[in-house]
Amino acid sequence: MRKILLIDPSEDIHTTLSELLRPYSIKLTWAKNLADGETQVLLSRPDLIISEAELPDGHIHKFRHWRDDLNLETPIMVITAKTNIISEEESKKLNIQSYFQKPFSKDAILKKILGLFYKNTPLHKELMDIKGVEDYIPIKIETFLMGSTIPYDLYIQIGKEKKILLAKKGAHIPYDQITRYKKKKLEYLFLKREDFQDYVGFAIRVTKIAKKKKINPKKIQKLLRNTTELIVGDLYINDISPEVYKEAHLFAHASFQAIIDNDTFADLMITLNENDNFLYSHCVGVAMTSYLIAKQMGWVNDSLLFQVFLAGLMHDIGFKEIDHSIFSKPRIEQSKEERQLLESHPTRGADILRQIPGVTPLVIQVCMQHHEDCIGTGYPKGIKKRKITPVARLLYVAEIFAELCIKNPREIYHTPFEAIEIMEEQYGDRMDGNYFIALKKLILGEKNVEEQLKQEDPFANTGHLKIA
Ligand SMILES: [Fe+2]
Ligand SMILES: [Fe+2]
Repeated sequence: MRKILLIDPSEDIHTTLSELLRPYSIKLTWAKNLADGETQVLLSRPDLIISEAELPDGHIHKFRHWRDDLNLETPIMVITAKTNIISEEESKKLNIQSYFQKPFSKDAILKKILGLFYKNTPLHKELMDIKGVEDYIPIKIETFLMGSTIPYDLYIQIGKEKKILLAKKGAHIPYDQITRYKKKKLEYLFLKREDFQDYVGFAIRVTKIAKKKKINPKKIQKLLRNTTELIVGDLYINDISPEVYKEAHLFAHASFQAIIDNDTFADLMITLNENDNFLYSHCVGVAMTSYLIAKQMGWVNDSLLFQVFLAGLMHDIGFKEIDHSIFSKPRIEQSKEERQLLESHPTRGADILRQIPGVTPLVIQVCMQHHEDCIGTGYPKGIKKRKITPVARLLYVAEIFAELCIKNPREIYHTPFEAIEIMEEQYGDRMDGNYFIALKKLILGEKNVEEQLKQEDPFANTGHLKIA
């Protein structure tokens, strides 16, 4: 758990900061003066110090000297009522993380704290390091634990970059060999990119035969980069265990590459990304959340997980042809006709997806049903739970969560913790309880969630993708 020490005599600041940090697993300790602060630093070794500039027993610079003399590297953030805040550059020289002027913006300070805690971690660096389109795709080693014959060439990573052939297509991988690798903490084996598409059942070959349209590789790179930044930087990564997040990110990255190899998809996503950044970030958020919920539910079939991700990415594609001015209007200002037009987006989306080779009926159905709810008050058809495919029910939960958490031009966004509370209060039975519980477990880390599952989940433990 991360620890912050607040040095400030003001009770108000302490309360504000406590409330702000409550949803995150960050512990806040409080000192009212410098002397107290020094003791606390030695006792609790905080990861960050937030301090008022002028304290009853001296200036923060006195404290900073004390810290530097002890060779402590704990970053300091200063909040001050003074107007002569020093520049970024000067504060860097003094090894002060940042200055905030009172009254400070809660949002800005929270962003800074989370950025500091998260963005400097090895995981963040590692994930952001995945840059372009890769030739090899990592697959969790557990997938190959059954010791069956493999339908694809499998590679193993040696050192940082090099991949060598481990087993040729049709070979049999002995169980003990995999177990040995696992013991050596080898987490992933690799498939060639084109084999990954086959592996997840994405019929890309149809478009390969068709006349290939040239898509600007720079645009593809930009799209990949933006998507990675969205997944790594702007989502609720702080609330999810790094291990789970890393795996989800690798799968998302691999799936994304498979998807943009399809020219039609690449075109669609470039358009979404360039024209309306919010819609694109929403779709990436929904895709990632849906994938995380599915994993939390214990879905292990990579082909199914790929379809969940693809459905998330494409669910709002029906908005593509709808005028942006209607789209960004507050609900209350929309006319009946405008509302009807907006609510036609699932049907429009399904029509678009039907035209694209390689899109499975499940993905089309999910797009069609992602606004249907369990009690039949959704749209476009108002059907009830048993008629809605489980993946669409899952996406319904992911959709609300992403809508509440990801910054958008219409509404204030919430912390994941607040979003869960709002969902519980406002959506209740409209959501499928199983998927909501899985989301809660993911965010709040609730224990024994399996016992709370209301009913048998059709996709749980369906076994790995069948391999020959
Ligand atoms: Fe939608
Ligand atoms: Fe949506």
